[in-house]
Amino acid sequence: MPQLNTNYLGLDLKNPLLASASPLSESVENVQKLERAGVSAVVMYSLFEEQITKESLALDHYMEQGTESFAEALSYFPKFGRYAIGAETYLDHLRALKEAVDIPIIASLNGATRGKWIEYAERIEASGADALELNIYYLPTDPEENGQTVEENYLDLIQNICMAVEIPVAVKLSPFFTSIPNFIKKVASAGAKGAVLFNRFYQPDFDLDDLEVVSSLHLSSQSEMLLPLRWIAIMHGHINIDFALTTGVQSGTDILKAMMAGSKVTMVASEFLRKGIDRATEMLESAQLWMEEHEYESIQQMQGSMSQKAVGDPATFERANYMKVLSSYRLPD
Ligand SMILES: Cc1cc2nc3c(=O)[nH]c(=O)nc-3n(C[C@H](O)[C@H](O)[C@H](O)COP(=O)(O)O)c2cc1C
Repeated sequence: MPQLNTNYLGLDLKNPLLASASPLSESVENVQKLERAGVSAVVMYSLFEEQITKESLALDHYMEQGTESFAEALSYFPKFGRYAIGAETYLDHLRALKEAVDIPIIASLNGATRGKWIEYAERIEASGADALELNIYYLPTDPEENGQTVEENYLDLIQNICMAVEIPVAVKLSPFFTSIPNFIKKVASAGAKGAVLFNRFYQPDFDLDDLEVVSSLHLSSQSEMLLPLRWIAIMHGHINIDFALTTGVQSGTDILKAMMAGSKVTMVASEFLRKGIDRATEMLESAQLWMEEHEYESIQQMQGSMSQKAVGDPATFERANYMKVLSSYRLPD
């Protein structure tokens, strides 16, 4: 039987299929199901900076305005749907998940500014998380703010959090950087052990009937995997960081493609939300079958085997391929 085990952020994992941050981790039962279905670790849904801020603002309100109860003080602040729950609840849930399953639990912090992140990173560590994923979701909209300032803010945040905790830290990033390899190299130097590529920015749409801006969340499609696949293949072997590929992974062969690009793990949300948690078992079985049929003995053996460094024609990852691809298109007769 081919060996599926891998190592990510120093964690020995039985296979490279992780559950990505999603509502599935909101229930202990679903995380137990994910473990039974075979996933090797779970990334918890994120604790948002807004939740932390809201809770501390509520505390101020409670202290200063003489509000009768903390819960009442919380109610002065806008609701964020399911994310209305506070930071304390997040830590309680993390402890409950750690008790309920044996697989590693990676906690997730989502924000953009320094705020109280460091304190919460420490509290997440104290609550037993095996690792921490930072989802830095910052959308620069000020024309006066340049790319260097944006990058420096990211790096300052990463460095401070990495210094504050001993558990490994991974950073989930968007693809919107001018030079992805250069920035990820700096992320690694700031202390991050992993890069989770890529974060999806949820795009607002226009409702023309009501002339309103509406937010929409679409589950991913398989073709979206090609973006992180390419970048991981380009960076593998050049930057000392563990890559996790997220977005568009839907099958056993998708997992294997990510490994060949040079990822240590893949992270899946949409496919499990669409088809159910048991899909994990099918994906792992088909990955193992493919490896058996193609005489691979282990995941390690294939990691990076299709990276830019390893393939015969490295230009396929670069600009040179652009004209070739465009000119290969044939207009229908
Ligand atoms: C309903 C839903 C909720 C999500 N919540 C989070 C979250 O709390 N934190 C986070 O970092 N990513 C979150 N994500 C992003 C996923 O973790 C994942 O990176 C993204 O969906 C791409 O993977 P996929 O193609 O397998 O869905 C969420 C995705 C979905 C669909």
